[in-house]
Amino acid sequence: MSAPLIQTESLTKDYHVGGGVVHALTPLDLTIAQGEFTAVMGPSGSGKSTFMNLVGCLDSPTSGRLLFDGEDVSRLPTDALADVRNRKIGFVFQSFNLLARLTAEENVELPLMYGRVPRGERRAKAVKMLGLVGLAERGHHRPTQLSGGQQQRVAIARALVNDPLLLLADEPTGALDSRTGVEIMALFQRLNDEGITILIVTHDPEVAEYAHRVVRMRDGHVISDSRNAAPLRAADVLARMTAQAAE
Ligand SMILES: Nc1ncnc2c1ncn2[C@@H]1O[C@H](COP(=O)(O)OP(=O)(O)O)[C@@H](O)[C@H]1O
Ligand SMILES: [Mg+2]
Repeated sequence: MSAPLIQTESLTKDYHVGGGVVHALTPLDLTIAQGEFTAVMGPSGSGKSTFMNLVGCLDSPTSGRLLFDGEDVSRLPTDALADVRNRKIGFVFQSFNLLARLTAEENVELPLMYGRVPRGERRAKAVKMLGLVGLAERGHHRPTQLSGGQQQRVAIARALVNDPLLLLADEPTGALDSRTGVEIMALFQRLNDEGITILIVTHDPEVAEYAHRVVRMRDGHVISDSRNAAPLRAADVLARMTAQAAE
């Protein structure tokens, strides 16, 4: 077993709304090792996004501990938390969240603008990442000139440009047709094979079949945690789809 990347100990999160309080995590205990590919499932309101926001260092817990890459991030001030986030975590969202006025290359470069990476180096890195996601020829296109699947690839390239330890994805295939969704899962599996830890939130049981581990949440805590002995290989599924279409 590899070293833990994420460790939560009695993690809780309350939201105060109006005069009341919502207990979104109640508490949650989970350890995710480096190199794992985990899917988090659960009904709407079960706390998945709250958990992702804490793990992604976008927010801080109410109580309990969260260790990320060996560092206790649960009480870090906002700027230190942002620093961990920018250096170690890449985000992918259902709606791609690309800037419409920028080209694919410029979108991928964005996370490097906050650091001290020189311009030429930024551009070279963006070009390399677009190649890695299969979009070498599309660097000068704007999001509206790309399909949904291509836009999500640009978003993945952007998430990878800082060499993060963790890729966090909230419903990454939610806005895509099923074949394009499998293509994105094939990309995630390839990246995971190369060592990056992946955590995705999904409603889709088919998407969860590509993960090595499935964690189910309900009412703010983990209700089941199972290993997938033989995860589906997305590349095989794509090959089968292609063969069937040719018949
Ligand atoms: N910013 C917020 N303010 C108040 N309540 C929130 C906020 N975010 C989430 N909640 C509440 O916390 C609970 C968990 O929500 P969430 O983490 O978004 O669940 P999921 O992603 O599984 O749908 C829900 O009851 C939700 O209404
Ligand atoms: Mg959610």
